Amino acid sequence: MTRRPLIVGNWKMNMNVAQATALAQDISYEYDRDFEDVDVVLCPPFTDLRSVRVTLGFDKSPIMLGAQNVYWQPSGAFTGEISAEMLKEIGCNYCIIGHSERREHFGETDETVNLKARALIAQGIAPIICCGENLATRDAKQTIGHITSQVTTALLNISAAELKDVVIAYEPIWAIGTGLAALPEQAEDVCASIRETLADIYGATFASKTRILYGGSMKPSNVAQFAPMPNIDGGLIGTAALVAGDFMSLVKAFL
Ligand code: 13P
Repeated sequence: MTRRPLIVGNWKMNMNVAQATALAQDISYEYDRDFEDVDVVLCPPFTDLRSVRVTLGFDKSPIMLGAQNVYWQPSGAFTGEISAEMLKEIGCNYCIIGHSERREHFGETDETVNLKARALIAQGIAPIICCGENLATRDAKQTIGHITSQVTTALLNISAAELKDVVIAYEPIWAIGTGLAALPEQAEDVCASIRETLADIYGATFASKTRILYGGSMKPSNVAQFAPMPNIDGGLIGTAALVAGDFMSLVKAFL
């Protein structure tokens, strides 16, 4: 099964409207027709979604739009939250959920990730479900059990038919923003185990079609080691997603 590579730029809490527009323009300009065999998604902050969408739309770019978070209720008295319907309306095709920074700073749990996944699916938005272990869990050799539990709970009671285009992103916490990526073999081992978990839940065909990304200090100088790995279908990129040339060299590596 050949899966279409996917590179997702998680801009985190960076880029004002003018900067976001300029970065989207630069990426769109560099993503010429030669790159169309790789899916590319930009996930700016909520406040930039509209301007990035307009910029990509003006260029008739195939680059897609994603958000970094969602709330699971459709509307109502939830001050400060954004619903899946709102993301759909503004043009999001994807949404990151369960990022370790949200788990650490904003109390996100596997259970709320499950609620968010359902809300997104109901709107036809593909969830990018993040999972990852901290250093203590890795040192205790509990990584695979931890990841299996995160993925299983996030997908609890969601059927394969509902889950048309889910993406799983493996991001070891110790590799995020540190400049020190996991070894490609370490990342491959965990991504392979995620595929086995998906096969256990949904069957081998579903698992073989689902894209699994690696994230955590993936950058131009190390991407060539990750791209050939059989179970790594792309990247969830933080730091290198903020520089158009760096980001595009990651896209190119997965061609
Ligand atoms: P870095 O690429 O900066 O390590 O961030 C990875 C990440 O958290 C993407 O979601």
